[in-house]
Amino acid sequence: MSPQKCIPLSLGIAILAVACSKLVPGAPSAASVMNAPLSELTPDQLKVFNAGAAEFDEEYASATGLGPIYVSTSCNSCHAGDNRGHMHTILTRFGQSDTFGNTWLDKGGPQLQQHALAGFTGETLPAGVPFSRFLAPLVAGSGFLEAVTESDLLALADPEDKNSDGISGRPNYSQLPAWVVPLPGSAVNHGRFMGRFGRKAAAHNLHQQSVNAFQQDMGITTTFLPRNPVNPLNPAAPVTTTDPDVTDAAVNDVVFYLQTLQMPPRRNVMNADVVKGSEIFRNIGCASCHTETLKTGYSPVAALSYKEFHPYTDLLLHDMGPELNDGYTEGNALPSEWRTTPLWGLGLASSAQGGRVFLLHDGRAHSIEAAIQYHGGEAAASRTAFRNLSSADKSALLSFLNSL
Ligand code: HEC
Ligand code: HEC
Repeated sequence: MSPQKCIPLSLGIAILAVACSKLVPGAPSAASVMNAPLSELTPDQLKVFNAGAAEFDEEYASATGLGPIYVSTSCNSCHAGDNRGHMHTILTRFGQSDTFGNTWLDKGGPQLQQHALAGFTGETLPAGVPFSRFLAPLVAGSGFLEAVTESDLLALADPEDKNSDGISGRPNYSQLPAWVVPLPGSAVNHGRFMGRFGRKAAAHNLHQQSVNAFQQDMGITTTFLPRNPVNPLNPAAPVTTTDPDVTDAAVNDVVFYLQTLQMPPRRNVMNADVVKGSEIFRNIGCASCHTETLKTGYSPVAALSYKEFHPYTDLLLHDMGPELNDGYTEGNALPSEWRTTPLWGLGLASSAQGGRVFLLHDGRAHSIEAAIQYHGGEAAASRTAFRNLSSADKSALLSFLNSL
């Protein structure tokens, strides 16, 4: 069945789960798709990439392990074309996995699985629980983010704001489950490891992120997380499976796929307005968090090894003030702290999000300018500088941002 023929979400989730095999809002436009492999891959690496791509696109159903409760049916349904996600598949987190302990796991946390297979009940958000809504971030280029050495990222952190620029990025540290193999060169800090993926930088590497996604987003079990998500208000739900829904090899293929995706392509780099906008971006302090250039360390994949690239992020947490405080935390992140979103691919967001843009962690900003207006806390001075720009300078800055 083509995705366009699905019953719209607003008509009822229960019907949707039965009547429609996909939750994709519509096929992504060609311009929005970023699923090309790195051109330097060897033929053997390309084979693994292609196997990972097929797994990423796999539409799960009850026969292949979906659920019993879930948020969506495939990686690609939320990360269509590996671009920024669409509001149709936004997810809700409410179980806190924070330094104070897991507070809402007995109520169905850490994530709301609102859809259910026939015979099961999807979860509803318990009353009075702090929550955040997370839109799927872009995943193209994530192998480069994973291959940056931890020491390079820590060198960007300034938790006590020693240079008094008002900006004090810091890493998020979380305990790692035993099945996560720490990235080479990562240091243990009071039993915790630095995270770099996810809106709050709570996931250490692409393997942890993917295994969590299989389980929490789709109810797909692995040897790493062999339990299905359970609705505590639905005692009929099976708890543990002895037969994982996907093999370790399939998980590894998906991880390799993520690692070896090309970066989002730049456009109009030489345009005079774009060049001027890139200087303004630096001058008004945007680049203090949205770090322009990072470089990878050694990687066994030659195409990823020792490469300079431009993601416009420091992968650190920043306090964004009451404007972006949802009252929800992960790891040692404060509710108002978020990982600097990589800005690469920003100008291609609308092609993936239905001709409009939905920016920030929950898509609340419907334009780039609106996203900047939500920047408080450590970013307040930069926002003020933005507000004080002449309209010609503002427009140059936006041309630059749209070229990313
Ligand atoms: C229901 C929608 C949904 C599904 C299904 C889904 N994701 Fe995600 N993905 C998200 C959201 C939302 C985030 C941000 C999560 C967070 O902040 O912790 C995310 C984050 C990620 C990231 C980290 C990107 C970054 O820069 O932080 C990767 C990589 C990723 N997903 C891969 C996958 C893979 C692989 C699958 C399938 C196994 C998958 N996702 C399934 C919604 C989804
Ligand atoms: C103190 C650090 C900091 C500074 C300074 C800063 N940002 Fe951000 N930016 C962030 C963080 C953190 C987020 C993610 C917030 C969220 O998701 O709620 C973000 C998100 C964004 C987004 C949304 C991206 C998306 O895909 O959702 C845009 C656009 C953006 N910033 C542009 C800018 C511009 C332009 C400037 C300069 C005027 C700037 N930022 C200055 C930290 C910063």
